Amino acid sequence: MNLAESVNRRIRNLVFNLNYKILTSLRSSELLNLLISLKVLSIYKKLARTKNLVLEDKRCFVSIWFYMSKMFSIGTKIKFNNPIKISLILIIIKSYYIFLVTMETKITFLLNEEIIEENLNPSVVLLDFLRKDKHLTGTKEVCKEGDCGACAVLLGELTDSGISYKVINSCLYPIQKVNGKHVVTIEGLNQETLSPVQESFMDEGASQCGFCTPGFIISATGYLINTESYNYDKVINSVAGNICRCTGYNSIKKSLKRLENINNIDSIKTLIDEKVLPEYFLDVELKLKSIRVKKEKVKSNSNVQFISGGTDLFVQKPDIILESDVKFIHEEVPRRIELKDNSIIISGSATIDMLNSFFTSKIKSKQFDKLFKMFASLPIRNSATIAGNIVNASPIADLTISLLALNAKLELRNSKGEKRFLLLKDFYKGYKTLDKKNDEIIENIIIPKLD
Ligand SMILES: Cc1cc2nc3c(=O)[nH]c(=O)nc-3n(C[C@H](O)[C@H](O)[C@H](O)COP(=O)(O)OP(=O)(O)OC[C@H]3O[C@@H](n4cnc5c(N)ncnc54)[C@H](O)[C@@H]3O)c2cc1C
Ligand code: FES
Ligand code: FES
Repeated sequence: MNLAESVNRRIRNLVFNLNYKILTSLRSSELLNLLISLKVLSIYKKLARTKNLVLEDKRCFVSIWFYMSKMFSIGTKIKFNNPIKISLILIIIKSYYIFLVTMETKITFLLNEEIIEENLNPSVVLLDFLRKDKHLTGTKEVCKEGDCGACAVLLGELTDSGISYKVINSCLYPIQKVNGKHVVTIEGLNQETLSPVQESFMDEGASQCGFCTPGFIISATGYLINTESYNYDKVINSVAGNICRCTGYNSIKKSLKRLENINNIDSIKTLIDEKVLPEYFLDVELKLKSIRVKKEKVKSNSNVQFISGGTDLFVQKPDIILESDVKFIHEEVPRRIELKDNSIIISGSATIDMLNSFFTSKIKSKQFDKLFKMFASLPIRNSATIAGNIVNASPIADLTISLLALNAKLELRNSKGEKRFLLLKDFYKGYKTLDKKNDEIIENIIIPKLD
């Protein structure tokens, strides 16, 4: 716990303990004014969150403070001659202020060519940051539920073998998860001339209103980055998460077919030579290595909201998450899937697409291939986790049934670090009722020895 958190907690305890005393000492008009003042603060807090305001602007806070003192002195004619009352009121204001400030965290990442370093609410979705803060409006907002792909961006991450890029839906992606990574928007693919992907869309008339086009270009470019030789079925599958409402898919398919004419697609370097990617991509690895990501511990309490892929949470309750204390599962448990003693160990932060790749490459099983293809779309599979699918406990969840058939076991860990194991079948107690405490996370999912 850092100093600010500890001060915050102490002040909050103090305030709660003395709350009763203050409230009983206030007259009804004073009470009303206190409530109004706190409401003003909470509206400001909400605005600060949703508009990504950083509380560096102390003037704003001071003006609210001023307003509050006015409410007390003018509205109720209180004379500030009672030191206990004054200090308690100051404590309330101060605790609100610290509460607001500690909800933000420093986020550092590469946005196209530019290194971004800002204090932000970690739960703000990347799409809002791109459009509202950075005015990168090429990334479109349509469904905001992961269904249409208009908000697709590329996300690059350093790996042992260079940078790995995947397509994600920025509308469901909390900004905290881009820390230390490379975000590429449609603006970041633009060059002096059109890229071959953009050109093929233009030549085939694959864009009418144009709202879906940036998402399609991002997905098709993501496909080219992740493949060494062109395959028509695979490029079509890569845009399965993109919806076009007006052009008609024939011209889009034709433009994707034309991508087979790009000669060299086997590395970032050749994609730059082919003008699929701008030249600055050559420097990205070095820039990412220069970024220092500071891991900030978020307040830990029993009401903390765990976020993993966010593909369910940011559809169900985005506003509540903006207001909540959050913890990101990938910071608690590194993403990995491994074979150990003939069991498959899937960490609590491993994504659906990682499991797909694992089954294809390590187990050489194609049994799951059909299932994974039907699971949402590639951008969702790139973010959504297996543990999230389990905890979601939706009766129509696709993975749970297979994991139950495979007799999977869960390893749970609580905030004190205590672990326990239980069979997945015992995890479900009833409809959306789980054998899981609030502070417990799924650290690993274990699929026992396979024949
Ligand atoms: C467009 C779209 C299509 C979808 N299609 C499908 C589909 O075809 N099939 C399907 O089954 N689902 C589908 N889903 C639902 C959802 O994506 C999945 O259930 C996904 O696996 C949820 O994982 P997540 O990591 O995104 O969860 P999150 O949204 O991060 O979290 C969901 C819940 O799980 C909890 N949680 C997550 N990880 C852990 C952990 N390690 N320990 C403890 N608690 C944890 C969170 O606290 C939260 O309560 C779809 C969703 C969208 C938006
Ligand atoms: S806006 Fe539709 S998927 Fe994000
Ligand atoms: S061009 Fe209009 S939605 Fe695709």
